[in-house]
Amino acid sequence: MKPTPDVFITGRSFLEDEVKGKTVVVIDVLRASSTIITAIQNGARGIIAVEDMGTAGRIAQNLDQSSYLLCGEKDGEKIEDYHLGNSPAEYEEDVVKGKTLILTSTNGTPTLVRCSGAKEVIIGSFLNAKAVTDYLRTVENEIIFVCSGWKSRLSFEDTLCAGYMLQQLVGTVLPDSSPDGACVAFALYQQFGKDVAGSVKNSNHAERLRKIGFSEDIAYCCQMDITDTIPVMKDGVIANKL
Ligand code: MLT
Repeated sequence: MKPTPDVFITGRSFLEDEVKGKTVVVIDVLRASSTIITAIQNGARGIIAVEDMGTAGRIAQNLDQSSYLLCGEKDGEKIEDYHLGNSPAEYEEDVVKGKTLILTSTNGTPTLVRCSGAKEVIIGSFLNAKAVTDYLRTVENEIIFVCSGWKSRLSFEDTLCAGYMLQQLVGTVLPDSSPDGACVAFALYQQFGKDVAGSVKNSNHAERLRKIGFSEDIAYCCQMDITDTIPVMKDGVIANKL
C-alpha cells in the first residue's frame, strides 16, 4: 500500500532533496496558487514562477515585449511598474490569453522554485482540489502536499486545504502511522472544514489582505472544486496538465 501523503507545513520546512522522485502539490490558497490556476484556466500560455524580481527582470529581457506580462506582489501589494499584481481578479481572459506570465510572489513562487527538483509539481488550491485529488489517485509516486505558508510560518488556509485534499484521498479516517504533517492538516480540516470560507476569513493572511483592499480575493479563493484546471510545472514553466 502507498504511504499516506505527507504535508510539509511551510515552503521552507524541508530540504530540497526530500521532494526528489515525488509528486508534489504546492498550495498557496491566498493567493499564488489560486492566481496561477485562474490564469491557466483563462488561457495564459505559460507561467514562469521565479523567486525574486531580479530573476523576473533577467527573464523578461530575453523575451519579445509583446509576449509577456510581469506579474507579482511583495507583501500582498502589486510591484511598481509590473503589469499585474497577484490578485486572481486581474487575470481575466482578455488580459492573459496567449501570454507568458513571469510571476514572483512572497511565498508561493519561492516554494515552487524549491520544489522544482520533484518528479512532478502540481499547483493546487481549493479551486481545483477535486480535480487534483482525482488525478493523484492515478499517481504511483509518493505524494507530498507542500504548503507555502507565510515567511516560514504556518498558514491556516494552506494547511486546511492540504487537509481537505488528504481527506479526499484517504477518506474520513487517517491511517495509523501517518506522518505528523498529515495528522495536523487532517485534524485541522476535521475541525474547520464545515465552514471553509468562514474560517479562512479569520486567518492571518486574510486579515492582511483585507487591510490592503483585497477582501473579494478571499471569498474567491475559498470556492471549492470550481475548476478542472490542473497547472503543472515542467522545466520551470507552468502550463495546463491536459
Ligand atoms: C504569497 O506568495 O505569499 C502570496 O500569494 C501573497 C499574496 O499575494 O496574497
